[in-house]
Amino acid sequence: MKAYDVAVIGAGPGGYVAAIRCAQLGLRTVCIDDREKDGKPALGGTCLNVGCIPSKALLESSENYEKARMEYASHGILIKEMAVDLAKMQARKSSIVDAHTSGIAFLFRKNGVESILGRARLKNTGEHCILEVASGGGTARLEAKHVIIATGSSPRKLEGVTFGNRIVDSSGALAFEEIPKKLGIIGAGVIGLELGSVWRRLGSEVVLLEASPEFLPSADEKVSKEALRQFRKEAGWTINLGIKLLSVEEIGSSVKVIYENYDGVIEQDFDRLIVAAGRIPSSKAVVDDHLGLAIDDKGFIEVDRHCRTNLPNVYAIGDVVQGAMLAHKASEEGVTVAESIAGQKPEVDPHLVPWVIYTSPEIAWVGKTERQLKSEEIEYRAGQFPFSANGRAQALGDARGFVKVLADAKTDSVLGVHIIGPFASELISEAVVAMAFSASSEDIARTIHAHPSLSEALHEASLAVEGRALHI
Ligand code: FAD
Ligand code: NAI
Repeated sequence: MKAYDVAVIGAGPGGYVAAIRCAQLGLRTVCIDDREKDGKPALGGTCLNVGCIPSKALLESSENYEKARMEYASHGILIKEMAVDLAKMQARKSSIVDAHTSGIAFLFRKNGVESILGRARLKNTGEHCILEVASGGGTARLEAKHVIIATGSSPRKLEGVTFGNRIVDSSGALAFEEIPKKLGIIGAGVIGLELGSVWRRLGSEVVLLEASPEFLPSADEKVSKEALRQFRKEAGWTINLGIKLLSVEEIGSSVKVIYENYDGVIEQDFDRLIVAAGRIPSSKAVVDDHLGLAIDDKGFIEVDRHCRTNLPNVYAIGDVVQGAMLAHKASEEGVTVAESIAGQKPEVDPHLVPWVIYTSPEIAWVGKTERQLKSEEIEYRAGQFPFSANGRAQALGDARGFVKVLADAKTDSVLGVHIIGPFASELISEAVVAMAFSASSEDIARTIHAHPSLSEALHEASLAVEGRALHI
């Protein structure tokens, strides 16, 4: 039986990063993942294969198309004829995915991580953990001193809704071969909004059906309100909040959805329906039951703040444990666990995980919302600055949205930054760094920001905390 210092189960952004870091620290490491393409390992998990990377590729292509159609004329660029070649767009997406997944295989070789294609199950723990790996009809056993479970998550299924040709999850929605005329989406969360954006920009009429009466409740209230206002202005979206799904049925070439809202019972037919109603942790069947791995009632593996499970020498990271289901959170936990195993004392601050929603306008935040601060009775001051007063945003032709900085009323420490607007995904990093260094809003306000740049909006919002913004 082959023996390792560390066996990582799952090669998503949690697992593959953990494996690389373990190997960098001199630990003999194997990473086992069951995802394959054409008989070869498709490393990178959900993120690279059917998540972050393919969705961002299609978001970019579809945004370029929409800009060319709707905005280029205002720059004096006239395009007489334009069409979408969806096959080419999808091929571009696939080549980006392939480059990334083979990049991980390269990184594994470079760092000396052994990669196994197969399905792993933990059979025993203790000083020497025993794993069984099923692949190609056979099973093999291996031994490791430490095990890191990084098995990720999968789309939540709704009772009575069966996935098929026309009713799909997010993976199916990334692979449409034709642009649906009428697209229904159950769930106006992150996936519903991002994938809805892709197909709306390419010409679909998109209807979002959301159970919650509130739009994007985890974002800051002002940001959610502004986002809803902006999305509702765009042609091609209908966002129905507070609906109750009654039935979904695939009939011939369409999907009939019956739901209830404030107006009564409504029946709608769609060419395609995406179910984007959250994701569930893949915690079952990875560990033998007799070992007694602690799993909470939502299916998340229970861990302490060092990602240790209740089993000796067994850790869990990423989507399979509590916290944001985000790639960068999974990776950071992976690094932390690797360094802990190697005897270091790393820490992950769960309050400093940034969120980004890649819609147009983009939405990003880090730290607490105003609602959280109020409910925790923390006194704060807020400063806000609109992109309409930012020269770079005007030059870009996208001056929607604002930056909002929330700072402690007594200490002036930055407690949260909320952005809706162009390149919010990039701008948020400055806020994360500032908060990681316990900066005050005055620290950001006294930092020189390049002109003209979008980052000046964060500078001005920080000045606004003290009521001394210069350009509003
Ligand atoms: P995963 O990436 O899910 O990887 C787990 C791997 O383990 C999988 O390959 C799985 O097949 C394998 N596995 C499971 N069980 C076993 C077993 N028993 N044996 C062997 N292998 C096993 N996050 C962001 O931060 N930014 C984004 O822009 C973003 N966009 C997204 C878009 C979409 C459409 C989706 C669906 C998700 C998106 N996410 C995004 C979320 C992100 O993909 C996840 O948070 C991230 O992939 C979690 O990483 P992980 O390593 O925990 O798990
Ligand atoms: P989500 O939790 O963001 O949204 C799901 C939505 O579906 C919720 O608003 C919920 O109220 C609604 N819903 C649930 N059941 C419903 C029902 N029966 N009828 C109508 N609405 C219903 O989950 P989503 O969008 O599936 O994404 C899963 C996770 O993937 C995200 O939470 C995020 O962690 C990750 N992700 C991150 C991205 C990013 O970072 N940009 C992009 C895409 C996904």
